[in-house]
Amino acid sequence: MQAQISPARSVSGAVLLPGDKSISHRYAMLAAIAEGDSKILNYSTGADCHSTLGCVRALGIQVEESDTEVLIHGRGAEGLSAPQSDLDAGNSGSTIRMLSGILAARNFESRIGGDESLSRRPMDRIMRPLAEMGASIEARDGRYPPLAIHGRKLHPIEYTLPMASAQVKTCVLFGGLNADGDTIVHEPMRTRDHTELALRDFGADIDVHKRTITLHGPAHLQGRELQVPGDLSSAAFFLVAALIVAESNLVIHGVGLNPTRSALLDFLAGMGAAIQILEIKQTGSELIGDILVRKSAVRGGVLEKAQTAALIDEIPALAVLGAASEEGLVVRDAAELRVKETDRIATIAENCGRMGIRIEVREDGFEIPGKQTFHAAELDSFGDHRIAMAFAVAALAADGPCT
Ligand code: S3P
Repeated sequence: MQAQISPARSVSGAVLLPGDKSISHRYAMLAAIAEGDSKILNYSTGADCHSTLGCVRALGIQVEESDTEVLIHGRGAEGLSAPQSDLDAGNSGSTIRMLSGILAARNFESRIGGDESLSRRPMDRIMRPLAEMGASIEARDGRYPPLAIHGRKLHPIEYTLPMASAQVKTCVLFGGLNADGDTIVHEPMRTRDHTELALRDFGADIDVHKRTITLHGPAHLQGRELQVPGDLSSAAFFLVAALIVAESNLVIHGVGLNPTRSALLDFLAGMGAAIQILEIKQTGSELIGDILVRKSAVRGGVLEKAQTAALIDEIPALAVLGAASEEGLVVRDAAELRVKETDRIATIAENCGRMGIRIEVREDGFEIPGKQTFHAAELDSFGDHRIAMAFAVAALAADGPCT
């Protein structure tokens, strides 16, 4: 697909974003193993979350979709059936990593894989803890999809995550749902806690104390009606667009404001961005609100340590903002960017280069000086949705049309 994007005069008005990707995946997977029907409102319209629904269907669960509403007829902890063919996670790391926790604990065999990008992403990070729980999983070259999962009853473990990863945390907790006893996960840094909140919403017994999560298994999940908040990581692209394009004034309605995700807003405010939260409500265990953003002179900043982990998906958008800022952006401790849908340090650098934006690349981050001009260019998403969106936003502020 090719798109022509012309420079914008202003980014103004109001937008309502699709449902949060992370939350949609979790609600769909938990609904599939819960007892009874779950209705999920504002389910993500993105391809990744539809890969999850495809897998849920292939596991014998009836799923009805209308517009952005999804009805999942859960059949309880033992209600999934062996898939007839390989499960297809498409481009979605969340689907393969989180669903593997559920599959490893079933009493059947399954295989799960995905597209070319997913096939290059490491799965040993989930295979290790699942093996400790007694799971039997084979992967290509020992660490890449497709995974062949020989399901069986798992036992609970206490596990310290070697990296900050909400997907791995979720996989271990999902693996522990059918186990007898406490599955305990320690995180090196707090990552998004949608799993903990969703598990509680579906009726699991779970405690969180600082960076330690304890799931008391086995869990008996009950179907629920839940609304997915708008996706804050998608809002990041609109926020940056409004911040860098002259005369912009935009309201983004119904955005998820979970405190483990909203570090983005704090970081932007710290840079001097004119951002206001208009109203905060609760939906299920998640927070939701409207955000007002206006064109601002942003100073620039440094992203490192825990903050980097909390903002990992927003870094492509922030790179664009950094180039337009007064003092630029420094990103450190972000080696995880190298194992996303693309090596995002490399794909950000490549597109910056094409637009004439100076960038200095490090092994675990980059440095972009401020006050730079985006020059019209032919850009490449490299098949990565966040790279496509970040540079579509850069194109809005460029000195001519971009492809
Ligand atoms: C996600 C966690 C993050 C994030 C991904 C979604 C999740 O991945 O980058 O887009 O929903 O748990 P990691 O767990 O690999 O950090």
